[in-house]
Amino acid sequence: MDLILRNATLPDGSTGVDIAIEGGRIAALGPQLAATAVEEIDVGGDLVTPPFVDAHFHMDSTLSYGLPRVNRSGTLLEGIALWGELKPSLAQGALVERALQYCDWAVARGLLAIRTHVDICDDRLLAVEALLQVKRQVASYLDLQLVAFPQDGLLRSAGAFDNLKRAIAMGVDVVGGIPHFERTMAEGAESVRLLCEFAAAQGLRVDMHCDESDDPLSRHIETLAFHAHRLGMQGRVTGSHLTSMHSMDNYYVSKLLPLMRESGVAAIANPLINITLQGRHDGYPRRRGMTRVPELMAAGIDVAFGHDCVLDPWYGLGSGDMLEVAHMGLHVAQMTAQDAMHACFLAVTETPARILGLEGYGLRPGCHADLVVLDAGSTIEAIRLRAARRYVLRRGRVVSRSPAPHAALALPGRPGGTDFRHGR
Ligand code: FE2
Repeated sequence: MDLILRNATLPDGSTGVDIAIEGGRIAALGPQLAATAVEEIDVGGDLVTPPFVDAHFHMDSTLSYGLPRVNRSGTLLEGIALWGELKPSLAQGALVERALQYCDWAVARGLLAIRTHVDICDDRLLAVEALLQVKRQVASYLDLQLVAFPQDGLLRSAGAFDNLKRAIAMGVDVVGGIPHFERTMAEGAESVRLLCEFAAAQGLRVDMHCDESDDPLSRHIETLAFHAHRLGMQGRVTGSHLTSMHSMDNYYVSKLLPLMRESGVAAIANPLINITLQGRHDGYPRRRGMTRVPELMAAGIDVAFGHDCVLDPWYGLGSGDMLEVAHMGLHVAQMTAQDAMHACFLAVTETPARILGLEGYGLRPGCHADLVVLDAGSTIEAIRLRAARRYVLRRGRVVSRSPAPHAALALPGRPGGTDFRHGR
């Protein structure tokens, strides 16, 4: 074997597991494997998990915070306007540089697969070219999946559909959309139809920004589910954000959830962004704005948490830490039961991997040896501590490592250090 990780705890709670790696893949898992290896790492009971996956990000705008100014109102619409001001002055080199820097942060955080939307409403398609270049450049250590995203509206922005088709021809992977930003509800629905039919004809996945609004009557998710079902695209269509569901009538939602389930449509909530952008037109009480995560999960619908934004016109914080995303999602959705907290961990690992259709993802023999060793004893503890990523492995090779952050105390009568982990 090339490498054996000894004495791991797995996300399903099993302990004392050895993981043998050969040729970049997991060769065997089990207690006290007899195999020997060129290198062995005793992880001392730490949690070993497949890598974090971010199912919803905007890498063309990341790390542009403050260019040319900051978002004062904190609203989605000012963010879109601000991005519109920035777009004409974007330079490909600077965009590539910022994206590569973010990819470095991601890898250090154990985030090894990202689905990023890329704005195609600039006729130059400069951001598309930049992110295709980044995708090639990072391919050995990070999977990047690109979504052609008509930020200013497919029908509302002149030439957007042609640009989207050009972007797909250039190598962009997924068809995006933004029906709630079209001029009317009817045009929003028409954009969903056009995009789903185009994707079906091309054999592509769909991931739309959908109903990112506090308007309870924004119901484009219904249209998206209808076309996913009509076109036989079950398991290949995703509705991102779906924040209007938070404010919808409960009776209507009781009809919508089974429709989504039947259509095989997945959902992506973006807790850090939804909790800061939504509810901005409310007095008090002020709505949270995140979609109905536990109810979607209970209906058997795949739900992932995405990061969405890091240091851009919409959000002035973030660092590529999917445990921070899961932590916020857990709080906003009040998912505090043990199984619910565990589900929040799966929402930044296994579930987004399934939504992206990642090959060889997981903890079974034959899967890619893409692994993260966390300074925690369980998935819940990982979220509680936003645990340090002790080792990040890509295809069996350590690509990042960091020491466990235990405090060395020097308090009177309390000699020694303290360990924030529990139950080891
Ligand atoms: Fe987004």
